[in-house]
Amino acid sequence: DIVFVLNGPNLNLLGTREPEIYGSATLDDIAGMLEDRARELGLEIDLRQSNHEGHLVDWLHEAQAVGAKAVLLNAGAFTHTSIALHDAIKAIRTPVIEVHLSNPHTREAFRHTSYVGMAAKATIAGFGPVSYLLALEGAHRL
Ligand code: DQA
Repeated sequence: DIVFVLNGPNLNLLGTREPEIYGSATLDDIAGMLEDRARELGLEIDLRQSNHEGHLVDWLHEAQAVGAKAVLLNAGAFTHTSIALHDAIKAIRTPVIEVHLSNPHTREAFRHTSYVGMAAKATIAGFGPVSYLLALEGAHRL
C-alpha cells in the first residue's frame, strides 16, 4: 500500500525556517524517518512538497486515482485559508490525516481555524517531526 505525504508552502525550508518553532529536521530528514518506518510496516511513501495550492488539490485527486491507502497532509498556512483543499478532501474517499509539526491552537488566533481539519479523518499536531510518524502509524491501522 502507498501513503501520500503531501506538504504545503514553506515546508521546503524546514531545518532553517523558524527552528525555535519547527525544529532543525529538514523535510528530507522527515522523509528518511518515514521511509524507515514505512518499510517496517510494509507501506510505501510518496512524499511531495509544493508552495502552490493547486498542486496540493491535484495530488489529493491523484491519491484517490492511484488507490493510495491514505494521505498525510501538512498544508502549512493553506490549512487556515483553503476552502479548495477542504473541498478536495471531501471530494475523495481516500482518508486524509491532517499533520502539523507545531500545535496551531497554542499559536496566533489566525491559526485556530483549520479548513483541512474540518474535512480530515483525524489530526496529529504538536509533536514536531514525530507528528508525521504518528500519523503514519494511524494510517497503517486504518
Ligand atoms: C504548520 C502550522 C501552520 O500554521 C503553518 O502555517 C505552517 C506549518 C505546522 O506544521 O506546524 O506552515 O502546518
